Amino acid sequence: MKIKTIFLLANGSSILLMSTFLIISYFSMLLSVKMIVWLSVLTLFSAVLSFLVYYLLTSPVERSIQRLTDEAQHISSQDFGSPIPEEGPKEIRFLTRQFNDMNHRLRQSFQQIQKAEKSRRELVANISHDLRTPMSSIRAFIQAIQDGIVDDPKSKAQYMHTISLEVERLDQMIQQLFELSVYDSGKMELHKEWVSLDQWLLEVMEHKRFSLEEQGRQVIIDLPDRVQKALFDKEKMKRVMINLLDNAMRHSNPDTNIDILIQQNDSTLLLAVSDQGEGISKEHHELIFERTYRIEASRNQKYAGTGLGLAIAKHIVEAHKGKINVNSEPGKGATFQILLPLEGV
Ligand SMILES: Nc1ncnc2c1ncn2[C@@H]1O[C@H](COP(=O)(O)OP(=O)(O)OP(=O)(O)O)[C@@H](O)[C@H]1O
Ligand SMILES: [Mg+2]
Repeated sequence: MKIKTIFLLANGSSILLMSTFLIISYFSMLLSVKMIVWLSVLTLFSAVLSFLVYYLLTSPVERSIQRLTDEAQHISSQDFGSPIPEEGPKEIRFLTRQFNDMNHRLRQSFQQIQKAEKSRRELVANISHDLRTPMSSIRAFIQAIQDGIVDDPKSKAQYMHTISLEVERLDQMIQQLFELSVYDSGKMELHKEWVSLDQWLLEVMEHKRFSLEEQGRQVIIDLPDRVQKALFDKEKMKRVMINLLDNAMRHSNPDTNIDILIQQNDSTLLLAVSDQGEGISKEHHELIFERTYRIEASRNQKYAGTGLGLAIAKHIVEAHKGKINVNSEPGKGATFQILLPLEGV
């Protein structure tokens, strides 16, 4: 039975009961017939009026409950619609407000889930593609060696070198994926320690020494005169800097310089890596920090990365409550900036 019918039945039966008692009372009051008829007509008229008023008053309640029911049905089929107007008595308005709030939160969570699902699917697709490429080139090189297509030691050594580069690339990719999955599960452990910045930077550069020398690349370092110590996870931040340097080397000509700037004030530590390379247009500035996102041109490079480096860097910097961003224009190089708060780093 509909809620409105129940309301009206309840009201109707109480009116009927009241009118019957009233009319019986008129008869026992020894009134004139005219008076009894008059009073009875009045009682019946007020009963009809009260029924009407009751009907009008309960209509908004019924409407709101109907809207809530319809909306709940829409939600169950993932159609979140628009907020229901709040009307009717206080309790129903409160219920509608709560319902609208819940609807809003459900819509947000649903959108987040959809976004996460989309990015998971993209990640799997991109990663499988990126894993397949080095695998097939390793297979082809091994096949060529096995079939005796290459037999002179020089070519063989070259093939072996390429195979080892591809294996290294696979290894790096797997490590990065593992790292991201650990961070995603919220299990990043920061081992903060007081780091003297000049010493730490030397360790970073030591990592890149071989490839920098290979490219004959100049790195210009700008450190403040009074180098201080800062509190952060030395190894993780090293990974961030190495990725920034890798990117700078990959996206600029070897005959251009790479600049590293470190600045520190009372509250912030600034680390910046600049190159004079191809640069990045504005529409990619946010996207490059998303996992597996690569600008089209970088996808086609022979030893292109996986597009995970900056996503990992962002995770690490944000775990230190810092920020990482890029300043760049196409053709004018790129500057990646990390800002770490020094208070409570
Ligand atoms: N200095 C730069 N100049 C121009 N483009 C850059 C620069 N750094 C990053 N990018 C662009 O951003 C993308 C994402 O960089 P990211 O470091 O996340 O991945 P990657 O270098 O491609 O791979 P990985 O770091 O996982 O080996 C790059 O593929 C490139 O398109
Ligand atoms: Mg990179």
